[in-house]
Amino acid sequence: MDEIRVSRRAALMGAGAVMAWVASPARALLQAVGEVPVPANVERLIGQMTLEEKAGQLSLMPSAWGGGAALSLNPASAGPNFQQQVEEARRGQLTGVFNGNGATMAKILQTAAVRESRLKIPLIFAADVIHGHRTIFPVPLAEVASFEPDLARRTAEAAAFEAAGAGIDWTFSPMVDIARDQRWGRGVEGGGEDVLLGKIFAAARVHGFQGTDLKSTERVLSCIKHFAAYGGAESGLDYNVVDVSERTLREIYLQPYKAGVDAGALSVMASFNELSGVPATGNHWLQTEVLRGEWGFKGFVVSDYTGDEEMIAGGFAKDGRDAARIAFLAGVDMSMTSGLYRKYLPELVRGGAVPQAQLDQSVRRVLALKAMLGLFDDPFRRIDVKRESARSMLPKTRALARESGRKSIVLLKNDGDLLPLPRSGKRIAIIGPFASGLHDLVGPWVVYGDDAKSVDLATGVRNAIADKNSLLIAQGSNVEEPLAGGIEAAVTAARQADVVLLAIGESQGMSGEAQSRTEIVVPAPQQALAEAVAATGKPIVVILKHGRALAIEGAVANAQAILATWFLGTETGNSIADVLFGAYSPSGRLPASFPLRSGQQPYYYAHKPTGRPNPGKTLEPYKAHFRGIPNAALYPFGHGLTYGKIDYAGLALSAQAFPRNGEISVSATITNRGKYAAEEVVQLYTHQRTASITRPVRELKAFRKITLAPGQSETVRFTLRAADLAFVGRDNKWTTEPGAFDVWIAPSAESDGVHGQFELTA
Ligand code: BGC
Repeated sequence: MDEIRVSRRAALMGAGAVMAWVASPARALLQAVGEVPVPANVERLIGQMTLEEKAGQLSLMPSAWGGGAALSLNPASAGPNFQQQVEEARRGQLTGVFNGNGATMAKILQTAAVRESRLKIPLIFAADVIHGHRTIFPVPLAEVASFEPDLARRTAEAAAFEAAGAGIDWTFSPMVDIARDQRWGRGVEGGGEDVLLGKIFAAARVHGFQGTDLKSTERVLSCIKHFAAYGGAESGLDYNVVDVSERTLREIYLQPYKAGVDAGALSVMASFNELSGVPATGNHWLQTEVLRGEWGFKGFVVSDYTGDEEMIAGGFAKDGRDAARIAFLAGVDMSMTSGLYRKYLPELVRGGAVPQAQLDQSVRRVLALKAMLGLFDDPFRRIDVKRESARSMLPKTRALARESGRKSIVLLKNDGDLLPLPRSGKRIAIIGPFASGLHDLVGPWVVYGDDAKSVDLATGVRNAIADKNSLLIAQGSNVEEPLAGGIEAAVTAARQADVVLLAIGESQGMSGEAQSRTEIVVPAPQQALAEAVAATGKPIVVILKHGRALAIEGAVANAQAILATWFLGTETGNSIADVLFGAYSPSGRLPASFPLRSGQQPYYYAHKPTGRPNPGKTLEPYKAHFRGIPNAALYPFGHGLTYGKIDYAGLALSAQAFPRNGEISVSATITNRGKYAAEEVVQLYTHQRTASITRPVRELKAFRKITLAPGQSETVRFTLRAADLAFVGRDNKWTTEPGAFDVWIAPSAESDGVHGQFELTA
């Protein structure tokens, strides 16, 4: 029997292996990291620096060397060439660069800074290491589907190992923005729609990147982004206005950032969006009062790309000088890309618009972090050209990519137990734009990874089947355009096959930054392909590729089996084949709900009730539903099947009521009645029936991933305390209120599982 205590602290840190962190000495060390010691040499330097050199320490620039996809991941900047950038390093005009390429570049720049600049202050090298450096892991959203925070810790650790080996000190990761509107393309970089999962994965990733010693040449400084509520963009349009109540901000959006800060993250990136009328980059309440005042954050805040300058177009700053002043006074210590700080901060200080002491404080924070990273002891500690290749794409890292890939896959449907497939005896056709070819494997937001070094679906399947030559492959369609003759060839292949693997969905350019969609569907030419293939009557396994939850319809939704496979990275094909042929029984669960239709967005399971709820799925007049469909998910948050047959029974409560200073335990017995071993993600949800602030219809409070052999049962017990039932009250402070609660232990957010009720008393 397993017991989980879900105190607020535990909820923050999560179940399973991450729980171990809470108690471990390593965790204690991490808390110490939250205090940034300021070495004597830093104070000495501040005493010697000119205003221009101080502003330089607060100016981060895109690397002029560039590399990988770096240059195409952001709007072009009219920056200097590399030689001019080396000169800027010599003159102390730079704190560091980001998204450059490798130890060779870093060595040239660092040499200029520490040998030829007046004060010899080392540079810091940053990069977007979002889901792997050279070895690419599943996109962050996919990895959350594993419901295994320790997996995220391990992949972040492995990414840090490769990145630190390539001269990188600092990653702009994890992105922890809660995303409840699937039209928004950047949900792919985050932790999904749920607060608890968002918190747990934020903390796990920070631990993975930073470890317990920032001086380690295997670790990097992490950056929580984008602060705050970037994922709340109106209509899911990237960069758009966010207008949420302070209560929703505190109870939902701020939670994962806070968890990341509590886990020891020592840098935070301000978001592009405005928040209820005030841009985050110019928001003193957010960047200073909440972040530093309430949360005790001791690191530094960096703007996002040209976020300070963008306040001009956003109607909040008159010009560049004004933008620099507003951002800096709000609490943004460092400016990325715009160059506004180095251009205007010296004169703003001289003119008295910016206090000298505040400038010194920001410089102190940045230099203290450079010291913590060990850069004053040895500026070249992460810069070693030989080490870079010696650490790149090692077999153990690729094995981790394969493991994280298969654990990220969600089996949405498996009618007639079509899966797993036998390794021989069946002719397989792989059809669709993602059937084969070294493209769309690594996924969005990859600077250094390479599709060409990845495993495509056809190769993965071929590796797994007995008769390597029996595979039929047909592209059928382009991603967003028809392919001449494609459907005919695909139908011919389907007719010759016993089973079709239909590899369709989004390309990697269709999600990520600036990739909002109005219709979150399989693009029309691929839908037409699916309809034509389905008309052959052959059994179909849909293998979806996607950076968001999709609204699937027609032949896609009606296929016998559907796998949500996201973008799985370097080992894509092998990970999918592991699941297809039963080497691994799928264990992923949706971190974002698949709605019935696009028009439901934003749709998320933890929505509020209305005064006219529509009971069940049958539509009743004058109730809250759309014309023709209920406001429910096709596949809700938490859903995912296994190759076992899992049933839930015997909900038991330790009491009918418990006081605020007490606790209650809730248990259920989970049984695998199937013939395959399975991993089940057992989920605990609650709902407070009446309160002074209306409560969501369900909220995830805890989960546990268990393994069950065929025929095995396990009783899973959770312990709830009053703090687990807290919410942000009318005064915008956390509170609990006595009252009646529903409780479910269930396999998803919208399944019945087993249900009970209890009272929280005064
Ligand atoms: C993104 C950030 C990223 C930065 C640097 C911005 O456009 O919003 O997430 O870290 O660019 O590449």
